[in-house]
Amino acid sequence: MIIAHISDTHLALDTPDAERRMLDFASTIADINALDPAPDVIVHTGDIVDNGRRDEYAQAVAILKTAHAPVYVLSGNKDDRANLRAAFSADGYFAAGCDFIDYAIEDYPVRLIALDTLSPGHGRGDFRREQVVDLIKLIDADFDRPIAVLTHHPPFEVTVGPERFHFENMESMVRLRDALQRSKRVIAVFSGHVHRAAAGHVGGIPASAVPCIATTLRKGEYPLPMKSRPVYHLHRFDPAWGFATESRVVRAASSAAPERGTVSTPAAFLADG
Ligand SMILES: [Fe+2]
Repeated sequence: MIIAHISDTHLALDTPDAERRMLDFASTIADINALDPAPDVIVHTGDIVDNGRRDEYAQAVAILKTAHAPVYVLSGNKDDRANLRAAFSADGYFAAGCDFIDYAIEDYPVRLIALDTLSPGHGRGDFRREQVVDLIKLIDADFDRPIAVLTHHPPFEVTVGPERFHFENMESMVRLRDALQRSKRVIAVFSGHVHRAAAGHVGGIPASAVPCIATTLRKGEYPLPMKSRPVYHLHRFDPAWGFATESRVVRAASSAAPERGTVSTPAAFLADG
């Protein structure tokens, strides 16, 4: 099973780099489409757009329609829950009757559980008390398969960049950590938000964050030839060995053939800038 993991496209219509952000997003999907072997699924861990506007989501939907693999999206702090839901609800995977955009994908050897950490009006994440019961129900719906959990805000200590914690308070991070550790079947947590590669642990669960797709917003130091080339992650699952993560640089516009990523762990990928 191969997961193509993208995040933080921050599409906007009113910024000087608006066109660049569209190009970064579209070229990333084209790159994923050209992968051999093809990924089974594409996940976007939020901040799809920058202002939560319907016209921004329309652009995102148009770009994601070009993807060959099924796409699942999460809400980030820059997203608007209602507008995101309206833009993507036709795809049919959002749980009915749930205030939060929390859901499970059951089609793969690893179950995917997406969690909504958006706290309206705040940049930092939240995981509310009322989400815990639903999360435990989602986890316990299947006792056989391992689970990968997807969040926008990293629910782990991020040791690169200016801030170590990205939730509103430690209580919500502890609440989420305890709910994830309980079953012992969650084997990975994949996040975005920090716009740079990071790795850590949620209790005993390995976790990582993918850099942002929007190259103009990316943090950290990059070699000049990479400045306008988005980076995303490929998470490959092997039943014997678990997940291995590859950082992949979108091929240059002039390059005919896709390049393979060169570094296998997100933590080792980039020095912090
Ligand atoms: Fe974010």
